[in-house]
Amino acid sequence: MSSPVALTTTYHTDTYPAISPTSPALTQFGETILITGGGSGIGFEITRSFAKASASRIIIVGRRDASLEESVVKLRNEFKTTEFITCQGDIGSDDSITFLWEFLYSQNIFVHVLVLNTAYVSESEYSPGVDILSLDKATLAQSAKFVKQVLSPAGQQLNQLNLIGVSTAAIHESCTSYARRNGAAKLFGKSGFKWDSFALPADFSVWAASPEAYRLHGRYVWPHWDVNELRADSDIQKQLQGKGVHESRSRRIAYFR
Ligand SMILES: NC(=O)c1ccc[n+]([C@@H]2O[C@H](COP(=O)([O-])OP(=O)(O)OC[C@H]3O[C@@H](n4cnc5c(N)ncnc54)[C@H](OP(=O)(O)O)[C@@H]3O)[C@@H](O)[C@H]2O)c1
Repeated sequence: MSSPVALTTTYHTDTYPAISPTSPALTQFGETILITGGGSGIGFEITRSFAKASASRIIIVGRRDASLEESVVKLRNEFKTTEFITCQGDIGSDDSITFLWEFLYSQNIFVHVLVLNTAYVSESEYSPGVDILSLDKATLAQSAKFVKQVLSPAGQQLNQLNLIGVSTAAIHESCTSYARRNGAAKLFGKSGFKWDSFALPADFSVWAASPEAYRLHGRYVWPHWDVNELRADSDIQKQLQGKGVHESRSRRIAYFR
Protein backbone atom coordinates (compact mmCIF):
# COMPACT_ATOMS: atom_id res chain seq x y z
CA MET A 1 0.00 0.00 0.00
CA SER A 2 1.32 3.44 -0.81
CA SER A 3 2.48 6.09 1.63
CA PRO A 4 0.25 9.14 1.69
CA VAL A 5 3.33 11.29 2.32
CA ALA A 6 5.96 11.65 -0.42
CA LEU A 7 8.87 13.13 1.50
CA THR A 8 11.71 12.09 -0.79
CA THR A 9 11.95 12.49 -4.55
CA THR A 10 12.65 8.80 -4.98
CA TYR A 11 9.74 6.62 -3.98
CA HIS A 12 10.43 2.91 -3.52
CA THR A 13 8.03 0.03 -3.86
CA ASP A 14 10.71 -2.68 -3.77
CA THR A 15 14.00 -3.21 -1.98
CA TYR A 16 17.18 -1.51 -3.24
CA PRO A 17 20.93 -1.69 -2.58
CA ALA A 18 21.11 0.97 0.17
CA ILE A 19 18.90 -1.14 2.44
CA SER A 20 20.30 -4.51 1.42
CA PRO A 21 20.61 -6.60 4.59
CA THR A 22 23.78 -8.19 3.24
CA SER A 23 25.52 -4.82 3.29
CA PRO A 24 28.32 -4.92 5.91
CA ALA A 25 27.15 -1.55 7.28
CA LEU A 26 23.82 -3.09 8.28
CA THR A 27 25.14 -6.27 9.86
CA GLN A 28 23.20 -7.64 12.80
CA PHE A 29 25.92 -10.10 13.74
CA GLY A 30 25.93 -10.75 17.48
CA GLU A 31 22.40 -9.39 17.88
CA THR A 32 19.29 -11.11 19.20
CA ILE A 33 16.10 -10.05 17.45
CA LEU A 34 12.54 -10.64 18.66
CA ILE A 35 9.84 -10.34 16.00
CA THR A 36 6.13 -10.56 16.85
CA GLY A 37 4.29 -12.33 14.06
CA GLY A 38 7.69 -13.27 12.63
CA GLY A 39 6.39 -16.58 11.30
CA SER A 40 4.22 -15.34 8.46
CA GLY A 41 3.27 -12.43 6.24
CA ILE A 42 5.46 -9.35 6.43
CA GLY A 43 6.86 -10.59 9.74
CA PHE A 44 8.32 -13.67 8.04
CA GLU A 45 10.07 -11.46 5.49
CA ILE A 46 11.39 -9.27 8.31
CA THR A 47 12.74 -12.44 9.94
CA ARG A 48 14.43 -13.44 6.68
CA SER A 49 15.94 -9.98 6.26
CA PHE A 50 17.46 -10.01 9.75
CA ALA A 51 18.82 -13.51 9.05
CA LYS A 52 20.34 -12.24 5.79
CA ALA A 53 21.96 -9.53 7.89
CA SER A 54 23.62 -12.32 9.93
CA ALA A 55 21.60 -11.83 13.12
CA SER A 56 22.91 -14.35 15.63
CA ARG A 57 19.54 -15.29 17.09
CA ILE A 58 15.95 -14.58 16.07
CA ILE A 59 12.89 -15.28 18.22
CA ILE A 60 9.57 -15.38 16.42
CA VAL A 61 6.27 -15.07 18.27
CA GLY A 62 2.81 -16.17 17.17
CA ARG A 63 -0.32 -17.81 18.50
CA ARG A 64 -0.22 -20.98 16.38
CA ASP A 65 2.52 -23.44 17.32
CA ALA A 66 2.17 -25.52 14.16
CA SER A 67 2.51 -22.47 11.94
CA LEU A 68 5.59 -21.29 13.84
CA GLU A 69 7.20 -24.71 13.54
CA GLU A 70 6.50 -24.85 9.81
CA SER A 71 8.13 -21.43 9.37
CA VAL A 72 11.15 -22.26 11.46
CA VAL A 73 11.87 -25.38 9.42
CA LYS A 74 12.06 -23.21 6.30
CA LEU A 75 14.22 -20.63 8.05
CA ARG A 76 16.68 -23.20 9.40
CA ASN A 77 17.01 -24.69 5.92
CA GLU A 78 17.75 -21.31 4.38
CA PHE A 79 19.95 -19.77 7.09
CA LYS A 80 22.50 -22.02 8.73
CA THR A 81 24.27 -19.55 11.00
CA THR A 82 21.29 -17.94 12.72
CA GLU A 83 19.66 -19.60 15.72
CA PHE A 84 15.86 -19.52 15.46
CA ILE A 85 13.59 -19.85 18.50
CA THR A 86 9.80 -20.00 18.40
CA CYS A 87 7.63 -18.67 21.20
CA GLN A 88 3.92 -19.43 21.19
CA GLY A 89 1.93 -16.58 22.68
CA ASP A 90 -0.73 -13.95 22.20
CA ILE A 91 0.55 -10.38 22.27
CA GLY A 92 -2.93 -9.24 23.25
CA SER A 93 -2.63 -11.07 26.57
CA ASP A 94 -0.75 -9.58 29.52
CA ASP A 95 -0.09 -13.08 30.87
CA SER A 96 1.34 -14.17 27.56
CA ILE A 97 3.64 -11.16 27.35
CA THR A 98 4.84 -11.72 30.90
CA PHE A 99 5.42 -15.41 30.19
CA LEU A 100 7.40 -14.58 27.04
CA TRP A 101 9.82 -12.21 28.78
CA GLU A 102 10.17 -14.51 31.80
CA PHE A 103 11.02 -17.34 29.42
CA LEU A 104 13.69 -15.21 27.74
CA TYR A 105 15.10 -14.31 31.14
CA SER A 106 15.14 -17.97 32.20
CA GLN A 107 17.12 -18.79 29.06
CA ASN A 108 19.56 -15.95 29.71
CA ILE A 109 18.51 -14.29 26.47
CA PHE A 110 18.94 -10.56 26.07
CA VAL A 111 17.04 -8.96 23.18
CA HIS A 112 18.80 -6.18 21.26
CA VAL A 113 16.16 -5.49 18.63
CA LEU A 114 12.40 -5.73 19.17
CA VAL A 115 10.19 -5.64 16.09
CA LEU A 116 6.55 -5.05 16.98
CA ASN A 117 5.15 -6.32 13.72
CA THR A 118 1.88 -7.86 14.77
CA ALA A 119 -1.03 -5.46 14.74
CA TYR A 120 -3.25 -5.87 17.75
CA VAL A 121 -6.60 -4.13 17.79
CA SER A 122 -8.78 -4.46 20.85
CA GLU A 123 -12.54 -4.74 20.78
CA SER A 124 -12.72 -1.31 22.36
CA GLU A 125 -11.45 0.29 19.15
CA TYR A 126 -15.01 0.48 18.03
CA SER A 127 -16.23 2.38 21.05
CA PRO A 128 -16.51 6.10 20.43
CA GLY A 129 -14.29 8.31 22.57
CA VAL A 130 -11.99 5.48 23.63
CA ASP A 131 -8.59 6.49 24.99
CA ILE A 132 -6.21 5.89 22.10
CA LEU A 133 -3.45 4.69 24.41
CA SER A 134 -5.59 1.90 25.77
CA LEU A 135 -5.79 0.48 22.26
CA ASP A 136 -2.20 -0.45 22.22
CA LYS A 137 -1.40 -1.58 25.68
CA ALA A 138 0.14 -4.65 24.08
CA THR A 139 2.71 -2.48 22.36
CA LEU A 140 3.38 -0.48 25.49
CA ALA A 141 3.69 -3.59 27.65
CA GLN A 142 6.16 -5.21 25.27
CA SER A 143 8.18 -2.01 24.98
CA ALA A 144 8.42 -1.72 28.77
CA LYS A 145 9.60 -5.33 29.13
CA PHE A 146 12.15 -4.71 26.40
CA VAL A 147 13.77 -1.60 27.86
CA LYS A 148 13.67 -2.97 31.41
CA GLN A 149 15.39 -6.27 30.64
CA VAL A 150 17.22 -7.20 33.79
CA LEU A 151 19.77 -9.25 31.92
CA SER A 152 21.21 -6.10 30.41
CA PRO A 153 24.89 -6.95 29.88
CA ALA A 154 27.41 -4.79 31.69
CA GLY A 155 27.98 -1.61 29.75
CA GLN A 156 24.87 -2.06 27.61
CA GLN A 157 23.34 1.37 27.03
CA LEU A 158 19.65 1.83 26.37
CA ASN A 159 20.52 3.65 23.17
CA GLN A 160 22.03 0.42 21.90
CA LEU A 161 18.58 -1.15 21.82
CA ASN A 162 16.43 -0.78 18.73
CA LEU A 163 12.66 -0.93 18.77
CA ILE A 164 10.79 -0.97 15.49
CA GLY A 165 7.04 -0.51 15.48
CA VAL A 166 5.47 -1.59 12.20
CA SER A 167 2.43 0.43 11.27
CA THR A 168 0.27 0.85 8.19
CA ALA A 169 -0.97 3.43 5.72
CA ALA A 170 -4.42 2.39 6.86
CA ILE A 171 -3.97 4.59 9.95
CA HIS A 172 -4.85 7.45 7.62
CA GLU A 173 -8.12 5.80 6.76
CA SER A 174 -10.90 4.49 8.94
CA CYS A 175 -9.96 0.90 8.42
CA THR A 176 -7.55 -0.03 11.17
CA SER A 177 -9.56 -3.12 11.92
CA TYR A 178 -8.19 -4.91 8.88
CA ALA A 179 -5.18 -6.07 10.82
CA ARG A 180 -7.14 -7.87 13.52
CA ARG A 181 -6.90 -11.31 12.05
CA ASN A 182 -6.37 -10.73 8.37
CA GLY A 183 -3.44 -9.55 6.33
CA ALA A 184 -4.36 -6.46 4.32
CA ALA A 185 -4.11 -8.39 1.09
CA LYS A 186 -6.68 -10.88 2.36
CA LEU A 187 -9.15 -8.14 3.16
CA PHE A 188 -8.65 -5.76 0.26
CA GLY A 189 -8.03 -8.39 -2.39
CA LYS A 190 -4.80 -8.91 -4.26
CA SER A 191 -5.81 -7.05 -7.40
CA GLY A 192 -7.37 -3.93 -5.90
CA PHE A 193 -4.07 -2.25 -4.98
CA LYS A 194 -0.59 -1.91 -6.36
CA TRP A 195 1.16 -3.82 -3.57
CA ASP A 196 4.72 -3.14 -2.50
CA SER A 197 7.13 -6.05 -2.32
CA PHE A 198 7.40 -7.59 1.16
CA ALA A 199 11.16 -7.19 0.86
CA LEU A 200 10.83 -3.39 1.06
CA PRO A 201 9.49 -3.09 4.65
CA ALA A 202 11.56 -6.14 5.65
CA ASP A 203 14.92 -4.79 4.47
CA PHE A 204 13.97 -1.31 5.65
CA SER A 205 13.47 -2.74 9.16
CA VAL A 206 17.06 -3.97 9.18
CA TRP A 207 18.28 -0.58 7.97
CA ALA A 208 16.20 1.11 10.70
CA ALA A 209 17.94 -1.03 13.32
CA SER A 210 21.37 0.01 12.04
CA PRO A 211 23.53 2.97 13.08
CA GLU A 212 22.76 4.53 9.67
CA ALA A 213 19.22 5.29 10.86
CA TYR A 214 20.39 6.99 14.04
CA ARG A 215 19.11 10.45 13.07
CA LEU A 216 15.64 9.08 12.49
CA HIS A 217 15.28 7.53 15.91
CA GLY A 218 11.98 8.42 17.47
CA ARG A 219 10.45 9.36 14.14
CA TYR A 220 7.63 7.90 12.09
CA VAL A 221 8.99 7.05 8.67
CA TRP A 222 7.85 5.21 5.56
CA PRO A 223 9.89 2.46 3.88
CA HIS A 224 8.98 4.11 0.56
CA TRP A 225 11.24 7.02 1.38
CA ASP A 226 14.73 6.78 -0.01
CA VAL A 227 17.25 6.35 2.80
CA ASN A 228 20.05 8.07 0.89
CA GLU A 229 17.91 11.19 0.55
CA LEU A 230 16.73 10.92 4.15
CA ARG A 231 20.32 10.92 5.35
CA ALA A 232 21.76 13.51 2.99
CA ASP A 233 19.09 16.18 2.62
CA SER A 234 19.27 18.76 5.37
CA ASP A 235 15.78 20.11 4.56
CA ILE A 236 14.33 16.67 5.09
CA GLN A 237 16.29 16.34 8.32
CA LYS A 238 14.78 19.62 9.51
CA GLN A 239 11.28 18.54 8.56
CA LEU A 240 11.71 15.28 10.40
CA GLN A 241 12.82 17.12 13.51
CA GLY A 242 9.89 19.53 13.34
CA LYS A 243 6.15 19.21 13.38
CA GLY A 244 3.81 18.67 10.52
CA VAL A 245 5.65 16.13 8.40
CA HIS A 246 3.25 13.54 9.45
CA GLU A 247 0.26 14.50 11.50
CA SER A 248 -0.57 10.95 12.33
CA ARG A 249 -3.63 9.55 14.00
CA SER A 250 -1.49 6.52 14.55
CA ARG A 251 -2.24 4.17 17.36
CA ARG A 252 1.21 2.73 16.79
CA ILE A 253 4.27 4.86 16.49
CA ALA A 254 7.21 3.66 14.45
CA TYR A 255 10.14 4.66 16.54
CA PHE A 256 13.70 3.64 16.25
CA ARG A 257 15.94 3.91 19.27
N1 LIG B 1 -0.07 -6.88 4.66
C1 LIG B 1 0.01 -5.62 4.25
O1 LIG B 1 -0.23 -5.31 3.08
C2 LIG B 1 0.39 -4.52 5.21
C3 LIG B 1 0.44 -3.21 4.74
C4 LIG B 1 0.84 -2.20 5.60
C5 LIG B 1 1.19 -2.50 6.90
N2 LIG B 1 1.11 -3.78 7.35
C6 LIG B 1 1.49 -4.04 8.72
O2 LIG B 1 2.41 -5.13 8.75
C7 LIG B 1 2.23 -5.90 9.94
C8 LIG B 1 2.05 -7.36 9.57
O3 LIG B 1 0.94 -7.47 8.72
P1 LIG B 1 0.63 -8.80 7.90
O4 LIG B 1 -0.36 -8.41 6.86
O5 LIG B 1 1.89 -9.48 7.50
O6 LIG B 1 -0.14 -9.66 9.00
P2 LIG B 1 -0.56 -11.21 8.94
O7 LIG B 1 -0.31 -11.80 7.61
O8 LIG B 1 -1.95 -11.23 9.44
O9 LIG B 1 0.44 -11.85 9.97
C9 LIG B 1 0.29 -11.57 11.28
C10 LIG B 1 1.32 -12.41 12.05
O10 LIG B 1 1.17 -12.05 13.39
C11 LIG B 1 0.78 -13.19 14.17
N3 LIG B 1 -0.23 -12.73 15.10
C12 LIG B 1 -1.44 -12.18 14.81
N4 LIG B 1 -2.09 -11.85 15.94
C13 LIG B 1 -1.27 -12.21 16.97
C14 LIG B 1 -1.38 -12.12 18.37
N5 LIG B 1 -2.46 -11.62 18.97
N6 LIG B 1 -0.35 -12.57 19.11
C15 LIG B 1 0.77 -13.09 18.55
N7 LIG B 1 0.93 -13.18 17.20
C16 LIG B 1 -0.08 -12.76 16.43
C17 LIG B 1 0.23 -14.20 13.17
O11 LIG B 1 0.44 -15.54 13.60
P3 LIG B 1 -0.73 -16.31 14.42
O12 LIG B 1 -1.99 -16.15 13.64
O13 LIG B 1 -0.24 -17.71 14.52
O14 LIG B 1 -0.80 -15.64 15.77
C18 LIG B 1 1.09 -13.89 11.94
O15 LIG B 1 2.33 -14.58 12.03
C19 LIG B 1 1.02 -5.30 10.67
O16 LIG B 1 1.49 -4.43 11.69
C20 LIG B 1 0.32 -4.49 9.59
O17 LIG B 1 -0.37 -3.38 10.14
C21 LIG B 1 0.71 -4.79 6.52
